[in-house]
Amino acid sequence: MRKIAPPRTYRVKNFGCQMNVYDGERMAELLGEQDITAAPDGEEADLVVLNTCHIREKAAEKVYSDIGRLKRKDGTAPIIAVAGCVAQAEGEEIMARAPSVGLVVGPQAYHRLPEMLSDVVEGKRVTDTDMPAETKFDALPPRRRAGPTAFLTVQEGCDKFCTYCVVPYTRGAEVSRPFADLLDEAHRIVDAGAREITLLGQNVNAWTGEDGKGRAIGLEGLIRELAKLPDLARLRYTTSHPNDMTEGLIEAHAQIEKLMPYLHLPVQSGNDRVLKAMNRSHTVESYLRILERVRAVRPDIALSGDFIVGFPGESDAEFEDTLKLVSQVRYSQAYSFKYSPRPGTPAADMDAQVPPHVMDERLQRLQAALSHGQLAFNRSSIGKRCTVLVDRKGKHPGQWLGKSPWLQSIHFTGEAAIGNIVEVELIEARPSSIGAELLQPAHA
Ligand code: 5AD
Ligand code: SF4
Repeated sequence: MRKIAPPRTYRVKNFGCQMNVYDGERMAELLGEQDITAAPDGEEADLVVLNTCHIREKAAEKVYSDIGRLKRKDGTAPIIAVAGCVAQAEGEEIMARAPSVGLVVGPQAYHRLPEMLSDVVEGKRVTDTDMPAETKFDALPPRRRAGPTAFLTVQEGCDKFCTYCVVPYTRGAEVSRPFADLLDEAHRIVDAGAREITLLGQNVNAWTGEDGKGRAIGLEGLIRELAKLPDLARLRYTTSHPNDMTEGLIEAHAQIEKLMPYLHLPVQSGNDRVLKAMNRSHTVESYLRILERVRAVRPDIALSGDFIVGFPGESDAEFEDTLKLVSQVRYSQAYSFKYSPRPGTPAADMDAQVPPHVMDERLQRLQAALSHGQLAFNRSSIGKRCTVLVDRKGKHPGQWLGKSPWLQSIHFTGEAAIGNIVEVELIEARPSSIGAELLQPAHA
């Protein structure tokens, strides 16, 4: 066995959802504890972590082509670690097919990365796709870094088993992290500079726990407690399932000022037969009723969703129902995808797979409708005054970028700094951003 020099620098490449972004940050911190530092921009790293996503097509193919590209000009390669959901689903195959991969680690096992790296340095190739009972969170070092907006994973996994989805298999069963751990982590990221926290989970609104006094609480209880952190200005949560949208959580949108007026609530289809075949366990009607209740308590709420076009058996008329739903709801923005058969899911074996050209056409029509809706929503915001949390510099001198309470991308020019919360007036609507005028400089 050939020994390898211990890595001194790393790069983490994240694909897919925000949960992967969170995991990527935690892996970076873990490597930092081992005195492995982030490779400076433009420099080759000794260790590259590909933090993969398996939710839609060609994920695995993309991993193989990324692995190929990591070869350096002099023929050497960095230590390659494949993490994330492709690692979980296809770890053994990756090891067999890609000899340059040194380690494969699943989303529930990455706290073992340092030990695995020691094995790799000894010349071994290692795979760990366990879903151990002990949680990785207990083994990870405390958070020390945070930008103005930070993610906090509060719940992982999914018990819903939508027939198209791999998440229940790659991320496992629904597990909520304990309240005390979350409070502690939130404190740390706020101390490190976060002004906004987005609570993450595949089914974030299924989170349950016990508060400091031992009382059972749901996500709204957690939000209420976190809102007490004085230096934290904003809270968000994603992604929710309609069936876990409790009255308490809906009410929280009226009661908790720091909870931003934005709700991402995937529906996937506007047709009840398709929803049933997807095993979504809600109907168009029950979904609309939830939105009505949220709008009743928080009339300005911005609504977002996820859609799949071309689920097996979806007819033209059934697709039209999705367009109807889109115009009825008036989403502020939304995500839409072509159905992609995932190995091992029930829908992959269903008859009447929709031909690709039909899917393409449906996706185009849906995306046109969603963009139209997004522009209309942005136009309806013009003239409003609101806060912006500045998270980046813009391209132009003196220009700043940030997010409105409704998660719109805002740009403005003036005196500000990253992490400031400024007061603006919204002036010019574009399809996916809004130009604003600075009214009141920072209350940092
Ligand atoms: N094909 C296409 N889209 C999918 N999604 C999940 N699984 C699939 C699939 N097999 C979409 C859903 C989900 C989002 C995260 O990804 O819309 O809400
Ligand atoms: Fe996948 Fe459905 Fe679970 Fe969402 S609710 S993660 S789409 S199985």
